[in-house]
Amino acid sequence: MNCIGVFDSGIGGLSVLREIREILPNENLTYFADAGHLPYGDKPVNYIRKRGINAVRFLAEQGAKAIVIACNTATALSVAQLRVRFQIPIIAIEPAVKPALALTRSGKVGVLATRGTLKSKRFATLVSRFAGTRQVIAQPCPGLVEEIEKGSLDSPAIRALVEQYTRALTCKDVDVIVLGCTHYPFVRGLVEQAAGGQVSVIDSGLPVARQLANQLMVRNLSAPGTNSRIEKFWTSGSTEQMQPLLDLLWPGEARACRVPEQFC
Ligand code: DGL
Repeated sequence: MNCIGVFDSGIGGLSVLREIREILPNENLTYFADAGHLPYGDKPVNYIRKRGINAVRFLAEQGAKAIVIACNTATALSVAQLRVRFQIPIIAIEPAVKPALALTRSGKVGVLATRGTLKSKRFATLVSRFAGTRQVIAQPCPGLVEEIEKGSLDSPAIRALVEQYTRALTCKDVDVIVLGCTHYPFVRGLVEQAAGGQVSVIDSGLPVARQLANQLMVRNLSAPGTNSRIEKFWTSGSTEQMQPLLDLLWPGEARACRVPEQFC
């Protein structure tokens, strides 16, 4: 089946897939949650690269005509290598630092992301290219992805982590906060609450979906307007764990399937 292949370490990439579904309603979508290897945020570079190769192979085998890396960590650590290795178009995500810098009035922008993303060369380059005299304050969020994957998005544990990490930024007077991990849009409301009304909170889901739409058009790969979409959801973790998350976060009907053993 001809489809768009999308992957993340877990259900975070669904925040990007939702945007893709909105603006490309005729495309078949195949999602791969690499939950057997979650979280990516603290794993070594080589490990993430191997998982990236595995995900692209699996999605290509499912008929992907383009791949979206719906994970900031996997992008930061592996997109360059994946693009060299595979012919298939690969659309990647990065923290919305550039739009945040265009928006800030205080000249201070905060970024919530994984340690892997924030320590990466790619992130350092992004900041040094665009920050100029403005300040980009990076706040790693250990533990937050794991809590979000538990599926109770308003739990005391999530609230405590979000408050801690958000306040570490607002106390430095940032007026824009970037959600630099695709899991975090699912707790955007809590970040906004903790930050207070004066702070804008932005992410990269929609820009990535637009970039994908543009690439499909330029390469003549777009699905015909008459196509009735098929959506598939795969995990390298347990389907029992993924199903309730899909029920909670996906706007349509979705059934979790386990990827074949060689992709786990
Ligand atoms: N959702 C991911 C990201 O955007 C990965 C989180 C993780 O597995 O640590 O970075």
